[in-house]
Amino acid sequence: MSDPSESRPAEGKNDSATAADSGRTGISRRGFLKGAGLTAAGTALLDGVQAFSSEAPGASTHGVTELGPGPVPVRLHVNGAEHTVQIEPRTTLAEALRMHLGMTGTKVVCDRGVCSGCTFWLDKMPVNSCMTLAIDAVGHNVTTIEGISSEGEIHPLQAAFVKHDAMQCGFCTPGMVMSCAALLERNPHPSEHDVRHAISGNLCRCGTYPKIFAATLDVAGVTRNA
Ligand code: FES
Ligand code: FES
Repeated sequence: MSDPSESRPAEGKNDSATAADSGRTGISRRGFLKGAGLTAAGTALLDGVQAFSSEAPGASTHGVTELGPGPVPVRLHVNGAEHTVQIEPRTTLAEALRMHLGMTGTKVVCDRGVCSGCTFWLDKMPVNSCMTLAIDAVGHNVTTIEGISSEGEIHPLQAAFVKHDAMQCGFCTPGMVMSCAALLERNPHPSEHDVRHAISGNLCRCGTYPKIFAATLDVAGVTRNA
C-alpha cells in the first residue's frame, strides 16, 4: 500500500515545485482535490470555488494572489457560524475542522478520497473533506455532522440509525449520515435504489448497509422490500 502522504505535498515543498509537477501532468494538486473530493452523490464540480479569505495576506502577481506556504487567516462559515483559522493553504477542510475548530465529528478514515467517511456538505452537496482544501470552502456554507441537529435534538436520521442499530464500530457513521441526510434533502421520498446510489461511495467495513437502508427509508416513510 502506498504512503498516505503521497496525496499531499511534502513538508517544505515549494510552490515552484508544485507548479512544475502540474506542468508535467496537466493536473494541479488543487484541481485534483476539487474533482476527487466529490462523493458519489455530488454531481457538480466545484467550478467557481476560487474565493480565498479576504483577510489573507499574499503577494499579487498579474491579478493572481499567492498564499502561503506559511499559515494565513482563512475565514470559514461552518454550521451557521463564522470562524477564522490560521492555516497553511495546503490544509484540508478535514484537518481544519478537526484540528483547528475542534469539530471531531467528521472522521478521517482513509484520508485519500476512497471511503467518504469524512463527508460534509458544501452548500448541501456531500463532499469528502479530506479531499477539499479549506481555502476552497471559503465563501460557502459548510455543514458538518455537528450542524445537522437543531435545538439540542438529533436529526431524525440519526435517531433512525439508533433505532435500526445501523452502526457497529461507528467510523463510517458520520459520513453515512451526511450522505443519506443530503439525499433526503434532495429527495424526501427516495427508493431503496436511491439510497444505495447515495451511499455507493461510502464504505462500511462492518457491513451495516442493510440497516442504513432501513433507517433512511424509515425516515422517508418508505417500507423496505427485503
Ligand atoms: S474519503 Fe476522506 S477519509 Fe476516506
Ligand atoms: S460501522 Fe464500522 S465501518 Fe461502518
